Amino acid sequence: LGNVPQAIKSVADLLSSNKCKNIVVLTGAGVSCNARIPDFRTPGTGLYDNLQKYNLPFPEAVFDLGFYRNNPDPFVQLASELWPGLRHSPTITHSFIALLAKKGMLLRNYTQNIDMLDVLAGVPEDKVIECHGHFRTSSCTNCSSAFDGEECKRIIVEEKRAPACKQCGGFVKPDIVFFGESLPLKYHRLVKQDTKMADLLLVMGTSLMVGPVNMIPEMVRSNCPRILLNRELVGTFLRRNGPRTRRKSYDTNAHRDIFHSGDCDDSIRTLCALLGWETELDELNAS
Ligand code: OAD
Repeated sequence: LGNVPQAIKSVADLLSSNKCKNIVVLTGAGVSCNARIPDFRTPGTGLYDNLQKYNLPFPEAVFDLGFYRNNPDPFVQLASELWPGLRHSPTITHSFIALLAKKGMLLRNYTQNIDMLDVLAGVPEDKVIECHGHFRTSSCTNCSSAFDGEECKRIIVEEKRAPACKQCGGFVKPDIVFFGESLPLKYHRLVKQDTKMADLLLVMGTSLMVGPVNMIPEMVRSNCPRILLNRELVGTFLRRNGPRTRRKSYDTNAHRDIFHSGDCDDSIRTLCALLGWETELDELNAS
């Protein structure tokens, strides 16, 4: 195995300790980058650095509810190119989450992604919370009436225009969560109890720049270990967790955080090799 980073060894120790039976996994766009889906904020390659042709006032406007109601064209153009289909396959990291589920160790996978690769990898649907929605159904941005998901897809992808609501004529969009919209009910229903129950938090491929999902690492119990496998250090990992207190050990998260910087698929491979889970991982990834 060569030189295994200490952080990965520590994660392997935790996972083999028999103490982690309710793992909460929090993922973002970085876990799908190896499936050739760009993330949002990596300079140069991220989506927000590549939207010049839409002449937006600011990059996030493409996913902004108020902006869409006035000018749906930039999102419609983008969605017609990026509509999730069968072109992408789950990554090693997605398969690892499915493996945790198979081993009965996964409490929930909170994903900010709308590519559905976690479910395709074999994570049971009831274990997945699509925090930022999905493209399967659609509704009106004015009166919230449901609109047929397949028809919405056809009009956006083939006719490249925003569908009009049959009730009020407002612009319809797929049920992905835009800035200015609340998260799905399922998220609000489960997030408190899940974070309370979590005995390990595993965060991968996210900048933790967008709320309220970026609060999940702050919601787990103060003795719950938190692991970050990401290209960069983000959020409050290894950092101060609130106002200065006299009790120094509670002043930072360093005592319970593990961070390994790098490609999450590489980290997961090394981790699974240490745990002796590589064959199972590869079998899941190949199926
Ligand atoms: P970001 O693009 O903000 O962050 C992706 C993170 O993954 C960054 O920290 C990258 O360094 C890291 N990363 C990229 N490739 C990686 C790899 N192969 N291995 C490990 N880490 C990698 O994406 P999100 O955090 O998912 O919301 O963005 C959150 C939300 O912002 C999205 O759901 C979307 C966006 O606006 C909405 O549109 C509502």
